[in-house]
Amino acid sequence: EKGGFEHFMLKEIHEQPDSLRNAIRGRLDFNLGSSVLSGMGTSARDLAEIQRVVLLGCGTSLHAGLVGEYAFEDLADIHAEVQQAAEFRYRNPLISRSDLVVAISQSGETADTLAAVREANQKGAFVMGLCNVVGSTIARETGRGVYLHAGPEISVASTKAFTCQVAVLLMMALKLGRGRRFSRDEGMRLAQEIDAIPQLVERTIEQNDRIAALAERYAASEHAFFIGRGYLFPVALEGALKLKEISYIHAEGYHAAELKHGPIALLEEGTPIIALANDIPGKDKTLGNVEECRARGARILGVVTEGDKEAAEFMDDVIEVPACHPLVSTIPSAVALQLFAYHVARIRACEIDQPRNLAKSVTVE
Ligand code: F6R
Repeated sequence: EKGGFEHFMLKEIHEQPDSLRNAIRGRLDFNLGSSVLSGMGTSARDLAEIQRVVLLGCGTSLHAGLVGEYAFEDLADIHAEVQQAAEFRYRNPLISRSDLVVAISQSGETADTLAAVREANQKGAFVMGLCNVVGSTIARETGRGVYLHAGPEISVASTKAFTCQVAVLLMMALKLGRGRRFSRDEGMRLAQEIDAIPQLVERTIEQNDRIAALAERYAASEHAFFIGRGYLFPVALEGALKLKEISYIHAEGYHAAELKHGPIALLEEGTPIIALANDIPGKDKTLGNVEECRARGARILGVVTEGDKEAAEFMDDVIEVPACHPLVSTIPSAVALQLFAYHVARIRACEIDQPRNLAKSVTVE
């Protein structure tokens, strides 16, 4: 059932090129430079009336939402915000009919996300589900939305659902963007980039053995910091979540600029810093922060764009991801960090598929 892999998590990491193909298939319109997401179920006029996108989720799904926030703002010029679902439901959320609320949930059963959907429905928002499990409660109660088609995710730690969530959010943003300022040419280019995601992930997974060898150098750590900026900030959060939940190393994800506002006090000789330094806007600033960490003795593992020697020079160890659109680069980067977390946890002999205290689906608040 694990298809020859030692753990479901590793199997699911390797399934990602196929999961992504399934999530993307038939949903890109290369001629119009747009996407076809019939599940969004609205006429062009309705979509034009959307003034704000509110993305809801918990855990890994929340992190996918954070990438979506950038995508909606940058591609569609729509104000977007992410709210942790429990926070949303208890805070008297200001919601109107011109809001598109996207509930992101792999299982479609997370109690807080479901309650947030009910709250948003009650307030008259336009609510959509982004679920993996077909017929799940959130998928049913939202009535419209887009399925991930990632296939069943067994491992408690979410992997393929995350990358498919991001891919679908990019396609949603592309669709909304094309109704607004995003030109056909730009749309066509991005559609091609999205279409290439499965190959980018394949190439990242090819580095599995290298990442496994590298993980040896970090597996005895007690703490780790993941840093990134812009599109890669959510990836830093997700990388830290993956590492902590399966390896039990205390890992924190920080915006690279936040380091000097406190966390830098914790750096000692050899403290691991995992720096997301792909070639995207803000890279140089992140490299500056890496330099500050090095000066305090930290050991730096950099995720950098293939062939970026300049960035690699700042690092002690490097994982390369293929060059691609900056928003798209969140996906191969996240895959690299999934493999890193997996191998660290394997070396530490952890219960990878069933970490202590965790359940696959959190159906109580
Ligand atoms: C982390 C993880 C959890 C889930 C969260 C939401 O690897 O799996 O953080 O992402 O419990 O679950 P869903 O997406 O099913 O609502």
